[in-house]
Amino acid sequence: MSLTQSEQKALVGKYAIDKLIEQKRFFSGMKIGLGTGSTAMPAVERLSERIKDGTLSDIKAVATSFQTTIACENLGIPVFSMNAKEIGGHLDLAIDGADEIDPEKRLIKGGGGALLIEKIVAYNADSFVIVADQSKDVSSIGTGFAVPVEIVAEARVTVTQALEKLGATCVLRQGVRKAGPVITDNGNLILDILWKEIPDAAEMENEINRIVGVVENGFFCKNTPTVFIAREDGSVIER
Ligand code: A5P
Repeated sequence: MSLTQSEQKALVGKYAIDKLIEQKRFFSGMKIGLGTGSTAMPAVERLSERIKDGTLSDIKAVATSFQTTIACENLGIPVFSMNAKEIGGHLDLAIDGADEIDPEKRLIKGGGGALLIEKIVAYNADSFVIVADQSKDVSSIGTGFAVPVEIVAEARVTVTQALEKLGATCVLRQGVRKAGPVITDNGNLILDILWKEIPDAAEMENEINRIVGVVENGFFCKNTPTVFIAREDGSVIER
């Protein structure tokens, strides 16, 4: 068997939801953060199936993007704000995709531009679960997939200069079928940044956020996740 990347994404999203239910780490009444992207979506779909088949009830979800909100609305999964009384700023579990995962399970996220709400959700959840295809499993982060940094538009030049002082090169993310830069769900811009030498991801996560005008960055080093990775041979490993 040799699964394509999109087949791996579909497999791991479904597998993780079923496995977490089997392990009793996912159960009725939970407050769940739902991620964004092409791997998180099959997990959201599987969650809706397990609600419809009666396995799960009274699930309250917080969506990390417009993409996920729309999916939940279409699938009948009740969505709340992090600020809603029902959620109270705290989640039991968050499940999401990632762009890269290193051996210490530090992540890059935000390839889909949703890093800000994804981090608010992930860092305010008791447990964090990542679903990924094999290509995301890498030996180091920061020199391959560019780290997204969400910035306030007025600070584009000053933040770029500050990031260059940290040794990174910066590219303003451009829209597709939209002239000019990507505007995030929160009305900000994104700089995609890369280093030539492997950076200390945990240190950079803090350093980047000290720059005035940075809203958030795509290094996720502070809530170590359980990671499910689908492989080409059709197996799924849990790490
Ligand atoms: C969204 O902003 C991201 O953090 C995604 O979770 C990440 O880019 C992985 O996306 P895919 O699952 O689509 O590869």
